[in-house]
Amino acid sequence: MDELHRRHLPDRFRRPRGHARQLSYIRRLVSDPQTLLLVAELDGEVVAIANSGLGATPDIPQKRPRRFVQVRGIVVDARVRRQGVATALMEQVRAWARRHRCREIQLNVYQFNTAARRFCATLGFEPLNTRLVRPLR
Ligand SMILES: CC(C)(COP(=O)(O)OP(=O)(O)OC[C@H]1O[C@@H](n2cnc3c(N)ncnc32)[C@H](O)[C@@H]1OP(=O)(O)O)[C@@H](O)C(=O)NCCC(=O)NCCS
Repeated sequence: MDELHRRHLPDRFRRPRGHARQLSYIRRLVSDPQTLLLVAELDGEVVAIANSGLGATPDIPQKRPRRFVQVRGIVVDARVRRQGVATALMEQVRAWARRHRCREIQLNVYQFNTAARRFCATLGFEPLNTRLVRPLR
């Protein structure tokens, strides 16, 4: 996913000098009860990962309280795509969200990522808002 971001948005993403994600960061995720880390394995090899977290709207008067699950990232190895792996992981995310009495699942997707946008649409995700950017020269 990092490589995909670098390729399409080179002015925003760069190749890290060391590991993109420190071991301490991953340990924190693994032990965080607010986080669901899923992997899919094929022949003992990890071929997909999904990282999700519980969230809630800020407690401000004009917003209705809402609990949700944010999918922070989902990636499937290119060799096993279009076989329902991501759909199966998202089903587990959905079950977890229901257990935590969440009303919805949220996910950010970049405009360039047509494959991910189609995948999301297939699963019933709809755009909620649009983030606009105007470069300054
Ligand atoms: C997006 C991604 C996670 C989908 O994983 P996947 O395991 O291939 O998805 P699934 O097999 O469960 O696809 C389910 C459905 O989504 C749609 N879909 C998935 N990938 C698609 C693609 N490249 N083009 C069009 N539709 C697609 C199809 O309707 C598909 O059903 P079908 O194969 O029967 O037609 C995978 O392409 C990926 O890892 N991409 C790189 C990382 C990334 O972009 N992550 C998402 C960030 S939001």
